[in-house]
Amino acid sequence: MQHEQLTPFPGDFLWGASTSAYQVEGGWDADGKGPSVIDIHMHRPEGVTDFTVAADHYHHYSEDVELFAELGLNAYRFSIAWTRIVPDGDGEMNPAGVAHYHRVIDELLAQGIEPVVTMYHFDLPAALDAKGGWSERATIDAFERYAQVLFQEYGSKVKFWLTINEQNMMILHGRAIGTTGRSGQVEGKELYQQNHHMFLAQARAMVLCHELLPEAKIGPAPNIVSVYPATCAPEDIIAADDWDAIRNLLYVDLSVRGSYHNLAWAYLCAKGWEPEILDGDLELLAAAKPDFLAFNYYSTQTVGASRGDSSDIQVRGGDQQVVRGEVGLYRAVKNEYLPVNAFGWEIDPVGFRTTMRRLWDRYRLPLIITENGLGAFDELVDGRVRDDYRIEFLKLHLEQIRLAISDGVEVFGYCPWTAIDLVSTHQGISKRYGFIYVDREEDALKDLARVRKDSFFWYQGVIASGGDSL
Ligand code: BG6
Repeated sequence: MQHEQLTPFPGDFLWGASTSAYQVEGGWDADGKGPSVIDIHMHRPEGVTDFTVAADHYHHYSEDVELFAELGLNAYRFSIAWTRIVPDGDGEMNPAGVAHYHRVIDELLAQGIEPVVTMYHFDLPAALDAKGGWSERATIDAFERYAQVLFQEYGSKVKFWLTINEQNMMILHGRAIGTTGRSGQVEGKELYQQNHHMFLAQARAMVLCHELLPEAKIGPAPNIVSVYPATCAPEDIIAADDWDAIRNLLYVDLSVRGSYHNLAWAYLCAKGWEPEILDGDLELLAAAKPDFLAFNYYSTQTVGASRGDSSDIQVRGGDQQVVRGEVGLYRAVKNEYLPVNAFGWEIDPVGFRTTMRRLWDRYRLPLIITENGLGAFDELVDGRVRDDYRIEFLKLHLEQIRLAISDGVEVFGYCPWTAIDLVSTHQGISKRYGFIYVDREEDALKDLARVRKDSFFWYQGVIASGGDSL
């Protein structure tokens, strides 16, 4: 549909940007922090940076928040490291870790920036993982207790809560993104039991949030791609629907409707992977109601009917955005209409509009985009980063939000990935996303100086105009 006149962005739109604790903070064992599964993960490709220092935001947060204010953000989406709050996941609290996030949140509020807090972004406490991690129901209790601490400590300051970042990617791509330790080795039936337990943990957190903080809003944050059929052959449509259910709808349906999507459930049963569901589980899932739907969007995926042999598989393993293929289920297809970024991720701004329209149509919950961005090999030359390719990417995506709003979709915020350079899940710091450059390389820490990229000034102008300058 073409609109003669576009609806403007709402006046109270959240113009944000995102990070996650383990990718940006560093200080991996500072002030009583316990190790997470990320800290004990040893299988990084040669020459790819670890997360011990990252962008050292743990020590630079004050300077960074000032830059975020200069950028004009009125929201900052970040995660709290569970292991700073409860170092072993379910034991003693760590007052120094609790105090740290009070300081961060206070600085944000002082600058007029709304904190949007992710409770768990890939970094499960290693001590819980050693005891079985998400395979154990005790981890649900541990998460609920951690959630209670967060709500009690920060509830008077934080209005927007995100439960679990990209649970679907932890289940489907745990190895690539490094949510390893024991959990990353788990497959099949046990993996989907873990999935079920994470949903229960999320449900308990949502119920608790509404009990303790009636004014707060809470929601899930899955990674969503619209799935396209390779052709209009009916068999391709079936394959696209199946993959959409297994990759996307399984996660959103359980979070929003509290029930298993029938196609995803049929897939799990066919594999013999259906989780054990105890008395009370389904009631809990149905009782937990999110206030909004947050999602991360980078790309779409295109699939065809399975040919029943290895030609279905495009890549071994894959990652969050590179479609893999599964024999007997769907064939991975390259979308000839889409360019790819330097890491093989297809770029599809129009698919972003499709994704927003579909999510709104199915769930009727206000949407916030908690990640969207371009990973690229930025270069600092004479003190300047000319990232016009990132400006182009973000501009094209923001235009699609405006179109979706004009289509009648309720979108209340946009937090691109990332506010400041950080370490990619599995491709090092050379794969940069930020508006602010951090001067370090994979192995050389250098001075970690912060440099405003060209995209910083561009986004600053967009925010100042309320989106009208696009
Ligand atoms: C999302 C994650 O999958 O994509 C982020 O929530 C991640 O943690 C982002 O960094 C980009 O992916 P990558 O692999 O390039 O870091």
